[in-house]
Amino acid sequence: MTDPSARRDAPCAGLRIGDAAPDFSARSTAGEVRLSDYRGRWLILFSHPADFTPVCTTEFVALAGSADEFEKRGCALMALSVDSLFSHFAWLRLIRDRYDVEVRFPILEDPTLVIGRAYGMVAPNDNDSATVRTTFFIDPGGIIRAMTCYPANVGRSTPEMLRTLDALQAVDDGPVLAPANWTRGDALLAQPDASLDTVYAAKGQTDWFLKETG
Ligand code: BEZ
Repeated sequence: MTDPSARRDAPCAGLRIGDAAPDFSARSTAGEVRLSDYRGRWLILFSHPADFTPVCTTEFVALAGSADEFEKRGCALMALSVDSLFSHFAWLRLIRDRYDVEVRFPILEDPTLVIGRAYGMVAPNDNDSATVRTTFFIDPGGIIRAMTCYPANVGRSTPEMLRTLDALQAVDDGPVLAPANWTRGDALLAQPDASLDTVYAAKGQTDWFLKETG
């Protein structure tokens, strides 16, 4: 059987949905940033394994190209890797020159991995200090509302990040639910009334628990 304490150390397993996002401050490509300064707006904090690598480059080009879409939703982006600030600068310059895209959201340096470890972004194999592709969706109150963890060799989907953000925002005032493949404009589901009276009253309807809102 797997040792449960070892599982807690696996990437993405350090924090759980509903936890307060640990505060930190760090140097970034947009100056010194402090996580708690983002209170009052949504934030997507994400790690990448390394600058100047193929998949990461495609992710940054894609995210910078969709920066307006995140902005429209009141959501800031913040990236992080173990690489130095000057490595980030050099990589962003290459991306600008080669792909004609300016990455304006902050990319943090985390040379001591103090942030990466606090967020469970580091692979458990300590020989490899690279952060994996974790993504944390943090609400305006500083609470982690969703997170994903991808391996180094699979890039994230910007449309899926936007869709997840849309869904989190749509269900935020409750009591509604976003079904499979939901996208903005689609119907939401009603939170089922968990009472036996409702169950018995739904004559001939065995799917009484699955209803659209409105
Ligand atoms: C990449 O972004 O292409 C990558 C980064 C680290 C390991 C493997 C691939």
